Amino acid sequence: MPELIITKNIDAPGLDTLKGYRKRGGYKSLAKALKEYQPDDILEMVKKSGLRGRGGAGFPTGMKWGFLAKNQPRYLCCNCDESEPGTFKDRMLMEKNPHQLIEGVILTSYACRVSVAFIYVRGELALAGRQIERAIEEAYGAGLIGKNILGSGYDLEVIMHRGAGAYICGEESALMESLEGRRGYPRLKPPFPAAVGLYGGPTVINNCETLSTIPAIVKNGADWYASFGTEKSKGTRVFCLSGHVKKPGNYELPLGTPLRTLIYDEEYGGGILDDKQLKAIIPGGSSTFMLGADKVDTPLDFEAIAAAGSMLGSGGVVVIHEDTCIVGAALRMTEFYRDESCGKCTPCREGTYWLTEIYERLEHGRGKESDIDLLMDICDNISGKSFCPLGDAATSPITSSIKLFREEYEYHVRHGRCMVGDQHAQQETLLAGAQSVHAGAPAKEM
Ligand SMILES: Cc1cc2nc3c(=O)[nH]c(=O)nc-3n(C[C@H](O)[C@H](O)[C@H](O)COP(=O)(O)O)c2cc1C
Ligand code: SF4
Repeated sequence: MPELIITKNIDAPGLDTLKGYRKRGGYKSLAKALKEYQPDDILEMVKKSGLRGRGGAGFPTGMKWGFLAKNQPRYLCCNCDESEPGTFKDRMLMEKNPHQLIEGVILTSYACRVSVAFIYVRGELALAGRQIERAIEEAYGAGLIGKNILGSGYDLEVIMHRGAGAYICGEESALMESLEGRRGYPRLKPPFPAAVGLYGGPTVINNCETLSTIPAIVKNGADWYASFGTEKSKGTRVFCLSGHVKKPGNYELPLGTPLRTLIYDEEYGGGILDDKQLKAIIPGGSSTFMLGADKVDTPLDFEAIAAAGSMLGSGGVVVIHEDTCIVGAALRMTEFYRDESCGKCTPCREGTYWLTEIYERLEHGRGKESDIDLLMDICDNISGKSFCPLGDAATSPITSSIKLFREEYEYHVRHGRCMVGDQHAQQETLLAGAQSVHAGAPAKEM
């Protein structure tokens, strides 16, 4: 089993308390950093480690910190809004090891010379929110947050904020709008948050998993971290495995581990549910392009997944087996984007509505020959033409599923029903016939 970094001891009893976290070496990185390192030393360490953001885009973390404008006050926003379908790792990290995240928040704030940090938690994650709240209280009580942290002269306030359950509030600029008390609409970029962010100040925004990794890097050094993973995708990642696998769950693996290992190894996914055939894989949450089963040997790293035609995204690996109607699956995802579109720009607001309408008629036997091209045409009018990346994301399940499984769409149009269901009915008839032959009975007429 490969070495675990951020999910090490994750199920240890009491890890979620300050005492339990400290018992396992917690907050030693902070003490070391405040005593031995200047903020820029930590920034350089994180740059050298090769850590890239775990929130979706995979942007190099140290480089992002280096972009912060020099003026004060500066802010840190930790993005714990985790709403991407298929993604549930940040929730586990907050529920089971909240102090690791808080130590990461303090170290990052120190490195970036931030004096106020916000942890933005998705509203529905009630337990995660309570755990973070409690851990912040404990950390204040122990002098790990607040004035003159551990006698170093460094001051930091940490505030937890609960979102109200909007997917768009995970987008960094909408998150800042929401934190400022307004409706979660994305902001125009530039200016980027590093220049003009929260309350107009330079702001660094990082994902929960990204920041949970910082204590281990500070503790063990950049070279140690960079020894995991591949040349360009360093370290480990927590992959959220869901869908048609025997053992869904969160698995931390070095970047570059093949999809096949995650899905089939006994230690991880354990294979496809009911030993069915693999049909497709969504490698990084519903916003990423679907891959066909032939891509199962692709290494899970940023470059290899991009070369295979998708993105590593949020680390949400969704496995789809042979019994799945692809049209139905794409409809379900399109409904999500329609519901979560914030409505600010026309291509996404109107486009996601019309896409769902077309899917509804395809799914319910009222589809037209021209509908498949119409879906592609609407996607073309949304992708790259919307105000924020949610618009592009909405088109990913559609364009990729049409590219890979066009015949299923055509079947829906021609027969008014699902090809998968019909194939199974045919197989069952064949099987019944074969069993009758085996039993010596006359074969049924087909
Ligand atoms: C529609 C949308 C939703 C997003 N949701 C999240 C989210 O829930 N959590 C997250 O960390 N990043 C999310 N992101 C990415 C953030 O905008 C941002 O890039 C990220 O928090 C940066 O952190 P990182 O550099 O550590 O990855 C989302 C982006 C978009 C466009
Ligand atoms: S792309 Fe969609 S979510 Fe983004 S601003 Fe436009 S309407 Fe809102």
